[in-house]
Amino acid sequence: MVSRVIPVEVFDLVIFGGTGDLARRKILPGLYRRYLAGQMPEGARIIGCARAELDDAGFRAIAGQAVTEFVDERKRDPVVLGRFLESLHYVPIDATGDGGWNRLRGLVRKDVVTAFYFSVAPGLFGALAERLHKHGIATAESRIVVEKPFGRDLATARELNAVLASHFAERQIYRIDHYLGKETVQNLMAVRFANLLFEPLWNHQYVDHVQITVAETVGVGGRGAYYDKSGAMRDMVQNHMMQLLCLIAMEPPYRFDPDAVRDEKLKVIKALRPVPPENIVRGQYRGKPRNGGPAEPAYSVDAENPDSLTESYIALKVEVANWRWMGTPFYLRTGKKLRARTSEIAIVFKEPPHSIFGDGQGWRENVLAIRLQPNEGMNLSVMIKEPGPGGMRLTEVPLDMSFAEALGPEGADIPDAYERLIMDVIRGNQTLFMRGDEVEAAWAWADPIISGWESRGDKPKGYDPGSSGPEDALMLLHRDGRRWREIRE
Ligand code: BG6
Repeated sequence: MVSRVIPVEVFDLVIFGGTGDLARRKILPGLYRRYLAGQMPEGARIIGCARAELDDAGFRAIAGQAVTEFVDERKRDPVVLGRFLESLHYVPIDATGDGGWNRLRGLVRKDVVTAFYFSVAPGLFGALAERLHKHGIATAESRIVVEKPFGRDLATARELNAVLASHFAERQIYRIDHYLGKETVQNLMAVRFANLLFEPLWNHQYVDHVQITVAETVGVGGRGAYYDKSGAMRDMVQNHMMQLLCLIAMEPPYRFDPDAVRDEKLKVIKALRPVPPENIVRGQYRGKPRNGGPAEPAYSVDAENPDSLTESYIALKVEVANWRWMGTPFYLRTGKKLRARTSEIAIVFKEPPHSIFGDGQGWRENVLAIRLQPNEGMNLSVMIKEPGPGGMRLTEVPLDMSFAEALGPEGADIPDAYERLIMDVIRGNQTLFMRGDEVEAAWAWADPIISGWESRGDKPKGYDPGSSGPEDALMLLHRDGRRWREIRE
C-alpha cells in the first residue's frame, strides 16, 4: 500500500526557539523527513530565531547535527540533507526587545503561507505575538503554533488565550497536543466513524467500562524542575489523556471538519463530572533498583525536592454524565517508571444478558484494545469453544491486527506526530489542534481536582520502579468488581 504525498504550498516557517530542545529533537528532524518524502515544496523556507548570535551557516550546522542524531539512519541521505539545509535561515532575535525584528520582516515573504512556531517558554508568547504585529511581519492569514503547557490552570490558560486573541484570530492559532498528531490516535476516529460495526455497541448499554493507560518506563530525571511544578495530572491528563477520552466518548461529528470535531470534543469535556478524592490515586516512584538492576534515584531526587508532594503517577475514575455514557466509567492511568512503555485504550464490553452455557464455563468479557504505541494495532478478544471433546467449555482468542503487518512497509513507516501537525498548519487544517474553549474547559475540570489535593496536602503513595504503580490503584477497580489490564509491551 503506497500512501500519497501531496506537497503543501510554498511557505515561510519561522521557529522561535529554533536552537532549542524541541526544535532539535522534533521540529527540524520532522521537517527533514517531510522534505525527503517530497512534501516540502521547492522554495519553502525555515527561519530559525533565537537569542544566540548565529548566521545561516551556524544554524544549518545545528540542524544538520539534529537530523543526524534524531533521524533514523536509513532515512539519512547526505545529498537530500544538503538541499534541505539550504532552505534554512537564521535571524538572532530579542523576544522582549526590538533587536532582529526588522531583519526578520525583510526576510519573511508576504505572498506565501507564513507560520510562526512559538517553541519557547509560555511567558514569551505575548511578547512574540505583539512584536509580530508591531513590526508588520504577521498578516491576517499568518498562523501561529503554540506549544504546551498551555497554562497551568484555568486562570493562566485564559490569560494566554486573551493575549493571543489580542493579536490573532482563533482560526490563526494552532495549539499543539502532539497526541493528536499520532497516527493511531487519528485512527480512533477512523475506527469509530468509518465502520458500522462498533457504533451500535459504543454506549453504556454494551460497554461496561473503558481503560485508558499511558505508561512510561522513564523517570523525570533531566526535567525534574519543570515536572515538579506540574505532575502527571497537568503534564498528561489535562491534555493528552483528555484528548484520548474525548475521541472515544464523543458523538459522531457531522463532518470531519475542524469545528465540527472540536465542538463534539468540547461537549464531552463539559459533561465530565467532578472527581471526588476517593476516585483518585496519586503515586510517586521510590528509589529502588528495578528488576535486580542498578540503584535508581527516587522521584524526590530526580526532582531535587526532598519534600515534593508531586505525583509521577495518577489513576482516576472519570464519569461522563450524558445519555451515551452514564454508568460506564472511564478509568485513566498514567505514570513514569512503570513496568513497560505502552499506551492503550481498552473498551471492555458487558456480559451477554443470559448465558446459555451456564456459569463457570470459562466466559470472559470481550475487550477491544487499541494499542497506540508501541506495536500500533487493535485486538478484539472473542469467546470460542475450547477445542476437543470435553463438552462446551469456552476459551478466549484474540482477533489481532498489527497496523504495520496489515498495511505493509508503508504502514510501518508512520510519520512522527510533529511532522503531521506542522504540515497541517501549512495546509491550514485545525482539526487536530485544540481550540481555546476546549483547553479552558479541560482546565475548568482539572482545577478543582488539583486544588483539592493541594489544599488537603495529600501525599502521593510510593511505588517501585518497574511496577504497575501504587497498590491503591488496584483497589480503584477492585472495589467496582473490575481489574486493570496488565501493563506490558
Ligand atoms: C509530553 C510530556 O507532553 O508527553 C512528557 O510532557 C511525556 O512527560 C510525553 O513523557 C509522552 O509523549 P510520548 O509521545 O512519548 O507518548
